[in-house]
Amino acid sequence: MSKINNCLTGLDNSCIPVWFMRQAGRYLPEFRDLRQRNQDFLKLCLNSDLATEITLQPLNRFNLDAAIIFSDILIVPYAMNQQIEFRRYGGPIVKEFNINSFLKVNKKEFYKKLEQVYLAIKKTRKKLDKHKSLIAFVGAPWTLLIYLFNLKKDGQLNEKLLEGKEDEIQKIFLKLDEFLKHHIIAQKDAGADIIQIFDSWAGLIEKKKLENYCYNPNKSLVEFCKKKGIPVICFPKGLKENYKSFVDIVKPNCISIDHEIDPEWAKKNLKNICIQGGMDPHLLLKDEKEALGEVDRYLNIFKNNSYIFNLGHGILPQTNPDLIKRIVSKIRENK
Ligand code: CP3
Repeated sequence: MSKINNCLTGLDNSCIPVWFMRQAGRYLPEFRDLRQRNQDFLKLCLNSDLATEITLQPLNRFNLDAAIIFSDILIVPYAMNQQIEFRRYGGPIVKEFNINSFLKVNKKEFYKKLEQVYLAIKKTRKKLDKHKSLIAFVGAPWTLLIYLFNLKKDGQLNEKLLEGKEDEIQKIFLKLDEFLKHHIIAQKDAGADIIQIFDSWAGLIEKKKLENYCYNPNKSLVEFCKKKGIPVICFPKGLKENYKSFVDIVKPNCISIDHEIDPEWAKKNLKNICIQGGMDPHLLLKDEKEALGEVDRYLNIFKNNSYIFNLGHGILPQTNPDLIKRIVSKIRENK
């Protein structure tokens, strides 16, 4: 079994595996080059040969412990009959959410629409060193709702769009829960070793709604993964001190912390769980010495923990790939 899987399942506490969110992306010249020739992002996700190639790009450069399949969290609403547009600037949007076609989604057609994603996982697993993990992922229901309802405006939640919609939201969440589980199991069957659940916008939920919109939906997916024997990492970004309740209630195998979380606080408060990530990706844009110093700080704090090195969010497009190489070397030297 791979190092990350051993770390996640508590079989090995001595290692610090490393991978990065958005390790396949615009900071890599080879990604930009391929992307230039393929303007339609969705088509890229749905081309198993190109998705495999992109997934492996960072592994050809760096000695990482895991690949994360090149796809997107919005592929699931796409397969649930929604029209998704990936804009060059401003991020992706769902064009006029259609609840009828969404609720009427058919399981067979869903799998058919995503067959290239599963094929990409199969092809990647075949090419990937057997000691390395292949991570697949889903977006949590709340984070997907943000896009379905177009809830974000200038980084803020447009609360008005949620008013009086509790029943509709419950219906949408139920359907998402069902189809996210289909997507999880199909990714596992194709060869994925780990699932990461991205709740990137969890920080926008008001406290009294956390249980309904964050903890319960994540818990349902985590329990499903555990029942199926799939190690699971949760990333409820922006939860601040509520990370503690999240861990106590949801109980994933591993918790990915964001860069607002003080790592000392995490070590003290997030108990009996593998911790992942934390370092601010913006620090990778500053001078190298400062960035490597911060890597050291995380390694020191978590030296007696089960810890996976990663950042507090994805690698930024302006990041120098050479610095990623040095960070990986530093982590290897640490042992
Ligand atoms: O390397 C990896 O991490 C795997 C690939 C991956 C992508 N999206 C590819 C991508 C993963 C894990 C995601 C998940 C995802 N997608 C999330 C959760 C993680 C997070 O960042 O919080 C979210 C919220 C999305 C939705 C999404 N997709 C946004 C907001 C954007 C635009 C932001 C941006 O960086 O441009 C995307 C597009 C996207 N998904 C890109 C990539 C590499 C950039 C597209 C491009 O090349 O133009």
